[in-house]
Amino acid sequence: MSIAEKTAQQLVQKNELYEVTVHPQSDRLYHVKISKTAIQGFLNTVKEKNVSVESLEYTPYHRLIVSSLLLDQLGEDFSELIRSIIHNRETGGFTLGLEGVTKDTDDYVIFATAITHLLGMPNHDSMSGKYYARFSVKDTDSSDSYLRQAYRLFTLHTDGTFVDEPTDWLLMMKMIEENAVGGESRLLHLDDWNELDKFANTPLADHKFTYKAPQSKNVSQEVARKTFFKVNDKPCICYIDQFAYPDTIEQAHYLSDLSTSMENDSSVIELGLPVGDLVVLNNLFWLHGRAAFEKNPNLNRELMRQRGHFVE
Ligand SMILES: [Fe+2]
Repeated sequence: MSIAEKTAQQLVQKNELYEVTVHPQSDRLYHVKISKTAIQGFLNTVKEKNVSVESLEYTPYHRLIVSSLLLDQLGEDFSELIRSIIHNRETGGFTLGLEGVTKDTDDYVIFATAITHLLGMPNHDSMSGKYYARFSVKDTDSSDSYLRQAYRLFTLHTDGTFVDEPTDWLLMMKMIEENAVGGESRLLHLDDWNELDKFANTPLADHKFTYKAPQSKNVSQEVARKTFFKVNDKPCICYIDQFAYPDTIEQAHYLSDLSTSMENDSSVIELGLPVGDLVVLNNLFWLHGRAAFEKNPNLNRELMRQRGHFVE
């Protein structure tokens, strides 16, 4: 059976090592719960082999080695399972956590790396100069994008709009959270968006918009991208309001109306993600953003991201 043919029911499963359930907040997402024993076993072998965050950064093959150490604990089927979820159009997303086994953020980076390298290869993150990026949101910020501005809604978008390489999937992991109220990840599955047809079936859906990154992203190239494109005959989206440069008033209205429609859609979910948990999404048909935080001078929230492409 191919990955795409797996049904939702086949993804829900339980064994002594992990359990897959429909996510309590959305029937588009799954929650994968790994046993504490398996997580501890994974961390122990990582330590025995002297794998550190530094060795993952410097030596790319170590990233695949940690994936294999995770499969040693969970079995090869685990890899097939999470790839099935991410490739399946009906879902395309899951949450997963370290179950409180460790609070060490280096362990978080290592664990997330083991997960992403079962899905594909991360792209270089120009903002950090690494294959992953950690970024914090605090009370004050002078950055040039909404990524780190705490008290503003960060509108729904996909990642990788302004780079010239595919961004098929996205992992976000909660590293630190102190004095934070609000700031949930806002998510929308394309097929749940009420006005998808209206915006995907108009000539402007095929228009190649110019995308340019702000300086903090360290990407100087411009790319031209269509807002909608098809994969397996299903519409997919590439969109972020902040970095698109329309040429006409009509194009500006199209982008603005599309953004407003998504933001007001009743299917947008605000995901609760505990520290040490991560969410992985198919970036071709899931949009993500962030709710505003409530004002607090001691606000400190840090996320890690890894974005990448599928490898056949
Ligand atoms: Fe993003």
